[in-house]
Amino acid sequence: MTTKLIIDTDPGIDDAIAIFYAAAAPDIDLLGLTTVFGNVTTDQATRNALYLAETAGLTIPVARGAHKPMVIPPHKPSLRVHGDEGLGPLPAPAPTGQAIDQPAAEFLVEMAQKHKGELTVCAIGPLTNIAAAIQKDPYFAKNCAQIVVMGGSVDAGGNITRHAEANIYHDPHAAQLVFASGANVVMIGLDVTHKIRFSPSDFSNVAWEAPRLGGLLQEMSYHYIKFYETVGKFDGCSMHDPTAIVACVQPDAFAFRRTAIDVVTQGEAIGKTVAEPPGVYPAINAAVGADVDRVHDLLHDRLARLP
Ligand code: RIB
Ligand code: CA
Repeated sequence: MTTKLIIDTDPGIDDAIAIFYAAAAPDIDLLGLTTVFGNVTTDQATRNALYLAETAGLTIPVARGAHKPMVIPPHKPSLRVHGDEGLGPLPAPAPTGQAIDQPAAEFLVEMAQKHKGELTVCAIGPLTNIAAAIQKDPYFAKNCAQIVVMGGSVDAGGNITRHAEANIYHDPHAAQLVFASGANVVMIGLDVTHKIRFSPSDFSNVAWEAPRLGGLLQEMSYHYIKFYETVGKFDGCSMHDPTAIVACVQPDAFAFRRTAIDVVTQGEAIGKTVAEPPGVYPAINAAVGADVDRVHDLLHDRLARLP
């Protein structure tokens, strides 16, 4: 049984790894990509998503999403982390295809209606498009089987500020709306994604086994790993977005805490995700642990078998 999946993405180096992984995963039916600002601008994200889909041999719709956050002014893209064009050292790609005319939020609503109760939406960028879909269709939240969010943290603090994880920080109001929507939300935050790491030798193994796509990922990884070296985190890089894709299909590799999540939307801690907030909110599943070796090895083995 395969999981029907749409990825909402701001590619982005770890987004690229996630998209290649999903494209080749035998247990995933990737139905489309929707694009959002964050690591890059929405136009760059759309161009990169088209390029990644074509390079992975996919003929799937790519729908362009929101260009700016719901309320706050846009932050500058995280070019330091992902490179000037979002794919590390790679120059601006020139995909042959075009995005569909339908905006991302409309595409998400339509696909959730078409695949009622069966569609997983995996958001690996800011949640602006997901929030727009929820606002556009009151049934969207319930039509989705699950909305898996790479973002936030329960006890692991932040990465773009000491309080906030990047995807939430880029649009805290959207995240607050999604977490409070009553959808079946699964939050894959820094508590687990910081533990799922690829080393330079992981990327060289993948490139050796899968020279074409693995070689591309290895090239992108040099920039990503260099960023992690500059912040002195650890040798290698966090596989934030690919970990969220694994959680879409193999949730039993993770440990979850059932809790409501609110989001700080102003002040020094803006973008902070808060578990057990005062007040009445629907509970979601927030990842607090993972079988790290199982997730790492699954990513490694499947990326090594990329076509
Ligand atoms: O904090 C990590 C997240 O922010 C990942 O989705 C990464 O691609 C960036 O978007
Ligand atoms: Ca991302």
